[in-house]
Amino acid sequence: MPDTRTLTSSGNRPRTGPARRQLPCELGRYVLFDHIGRGGMADLYLARSRTTYGDATRLVVIKEVIPELASDEHFATTLISEAKLAARLSHRNVVTVEDLGREGGVLYIAMEYVEGLDLRELLRSCTKRKIALPIVSSLFVHAEVLQALEYAHHFCDADGSETRVVHRDVSPSNVLLSFDGEVKLCDFGIAIAMTADRMTAEVIEGKAGYMSPEQARGEPIDPRSDIFAAGIILWELLSGRRLYKAAGGEPLLEVAKRAEIPPIKERGLPDEKRLHQIARRALARDPQERYQRAGEMRDELNEYRAGAKLTTSAIRFGEWLSEHFADERVQGRRSRERALAALELGPPVVIEPLPPSRPGASGPDPDAASAPSVDSRASGGRPSAPSKGPAASQRPSTKPAGRGPFLQHPLAVLFVYALVVGGVSFGILWLLTGGLGAP
Ligand SMILES: Nc1ncnc2c1ncn2[C@@H]1O[C@H](COP(=O)(O)OP(=O)(O)O)[C@@H](O)[C@H]1O
Ligand SMILES: [Mg+2]
Repeated sequence: MPDTRTLTSSGNRPRTGPARRQLPCELGRYVLFDHIGRGGMADLYLARSRTTYGDATRLVVIKEVIPELASDEHFATTLISEAKLAARLSHRNVVTVEDLGREGGVLYIAMEYVEGLDLRELLRSCTKRKIALPIVSSLFVHAEVLQALEYAHHFCDADGSETRVVHRDVSPSNVLLSFDGEVKLCDFGIAIAMTADRMTAEVIEGKAGYMSPEQARGEPIDPRSDIFAAGIILWELLSGRRLYKAAGGEPLLEVAKRAEIPPIKERGLPDEKRLHQIARRALARDPQERYQRAGEMRDELNEYRAGAKLTTSAIRFGEWLSEHFADERVQGRRSRERALAALELGPPVVIEPLPPSRPGASGPDPDAASAPSVDSRASGGRPSAPSKGPAASQRPSTKPAGRGPFLQHPLAVLFVYALVVGGVSFGILWLLTGGLGAP
């Protein structure tokens, strides 16, 4: 069976919910202190690494593979070999894989932490709050994604040999946007380990919405499959809605196999036909008719952006993000500071997960069902509680373990202390003064 039955890392697992681990906890040389998200194959934690000289202040994300998959030897071997390849990538538009570990049956990947939102979250937030994502931002993000793909598809080792690294899961949730305006693609190649026999139908539905027709059919894929997926993202950014929708009970995977692409809605942009042509060429059903390189598509997109005066910089994009998502940033930072402060106090601290009954905290990946959205002006939709970032989803409480709530109050401790001392003193006094029935 070709490796291209590979599907997605996202699926029917709840994207938020309680951390499986009691936090903080140690894993290899990392101290995990906050649960920040959940995907189809892993739980994500924020962690600090330990060095010979003590804890490093820089934060990393630990992607801990769920035990069902970690114990599957074939899955583990495939994942490790692909993650090792991804770890060689070093580019400003690619999330750096820092480490790969296996500790007592636990399989994990340590990677650079991107403080911000993923593109899916951004689009959903925009829709929910009725914020228009400017077209300049959409095109900027897209050009950066293409830059990442061009680099990975033609990755050159130090010895000059070229290795083609195909992403296989180019989708909005793997496009991370930092509050500084950086755009970074994560999870390169790791979807390869998630073959169809390891997934439920729901998991397959999870991201079939971003598959090339050849990937959906389970045929061998090459970089042009990623270009098709990037074409879907561009189509959605321009149209303000999801491209593929499951209708009449037909599985999304079947829709993806057919790859029927409706025309993009006109929005009055300069030289708009040119822009639509770019998206349509990326979305050609036949890989031969697509852009053959992501760099070719990026160059055409950049030419269009320059000609239409629709350019922006990372700094401006970061300012826009920070302006509109300041709350998330502050919340995230506060929550992280609390979790870190608790860590400083030592191990007897637990981070309490939210109850799983919270609406939206469980059940199928909302992406599979909803029609998210994207719009350069009116934009898309996303979950109210971001599954990433130590933000709203996991509110840590710095409660010292082993003491009841009453005894946590300093006055209560004093009161109990006074009671004990008073009682003992009274007893001694009573004995000395002839208690116990002295004559
Ligand atoms: N390096 C990272 N830094 C910050 N957030 C991350 C990082 N990697 C992943 N995330 C967040 O965690 C979420 C879950 O990740 P993942 O397990 O890969 O699931 P998905 O299938 O949604 O991509 C992502 O959607 C993203 O918001
Ligand atoms: Mg991912």
